[in-house]
Amino acid sequence: MDDGSKKRVFSGVQPTGKVTLGNYLGAIKNWTPLQEQYECLFCVVDLHSLTVTQVPAELRKNTMDLVALYIACGLDPNKSALFIQSHVHEHAELAWILDTIAYVGELNRMTQFKDKSRKHADNINMGLMNYPVLMASDILLYNADLIPVGKDQVQHVELTRDLAQRFNARYSDTFVVPEALLNKAGQSIKSLQDPTAKMSKSDPNDNAIISLTDDADTIRRKLRRAVTDSDTCVRHGADKPAISNLLNVYSLCSGLSIADAEKIFEGKGYGVFKDAVADAVISVVSPIQEEQKRLLADKAYLEGVLKQGAEQAESIARKTLSKVYRKVGLIPRIR
Ligand code: TRP
Repeated sequence: MDDGSKKRVFSGVQPTGKVTLGNYLGAIKNWTPLQEQYECLFCVVDLHSLTVTQVPAELRKNTMDLVALYIACGLDPNKSALFIQSHVHEHAELAWILDTIAYVGELNRMTQFKDKSRKHADNINMGLMNYPVLMASDILLYNADLIPVGKDQVQHVELTRDLAQRFNARYSDTFVVPEALLNKAGQSIKSLQDPTAKMSKSDPNDNAIISLTDDADTIRRKLRRAVTDSDTCVRHGADKPAISNLLNVYSLCSGLSIADAEKIFEGKGYGVFKDAVADAVISVVSPIQEEQKRLLADKAYLEGVLKQGAEQAESIARKTLSKVYRKVGLIPRIR
């Protein structure tokens, strides 16, 4: 990676729950081409997932599953740094410094904090409130220019920009002020049961999501049960949110345009269409699953990837953090 001239990209996914087809089509799939153009770091943000209650053994498994999934989806450890957030301790340390310039009021206003506080009313911990500051730390530590995220994370990138500017104004120019890179087509894959809601891995209704771990029969069954719209015509449009969503999925998985898909399914009815969507999804998901499985069986390889990724990330992170410590007035340790 690192020849210094390319713009830098940073993104991450939490190792919680099941990665959905929405996460894949909306995020990870769009990251692979970025590797050709930018210096990329892709992180499994395990510290973030501790903000909701985790079963330790499951967190461990989910973390390695996600690392393998990154690679199975086309992230290439020879082109990008792939690493686990907690392996680079600077993330937590910079978060502390950023905490001292982040205001309680602005964190209290974050939409995701309010949503999660409602959802996890029995566990509104400080980490949940601090979540966006740790995310800002992830980004600013690498002076990343571009942050590919879904719409729901734009507010956090805005906060990151505010914190970068605030720090720069107070302590002199230090951080690059990053920009969100919104994914286009896939960003709004919706729930199969409610096309007004995003397909979310925390959805309690398993029929609403296609998980990247679902087998072919499950995928077909969930698509057959997907809600539809009133008439029987396979058409994209604002008045047809459910079928539009399935058409988006079909188009992204088959590579055909929406217009071509509408032509193919003209007069065919929803049953035939849903089966074709299932075929298209399965043709995308099953090779990824096979590759993920193969990778998970090769622990030594994955550990090698993670070692290299953490070293690449750390060499950048260390420089940023020591600069920050110096600027705020901390005395460097004598060695
Ligand atoms: N909050 C992001 C999400 O839930 C995950 C994340 C953590 C992230 N740190 C990040 C994304 C830094 C981009 C950059 O999707």
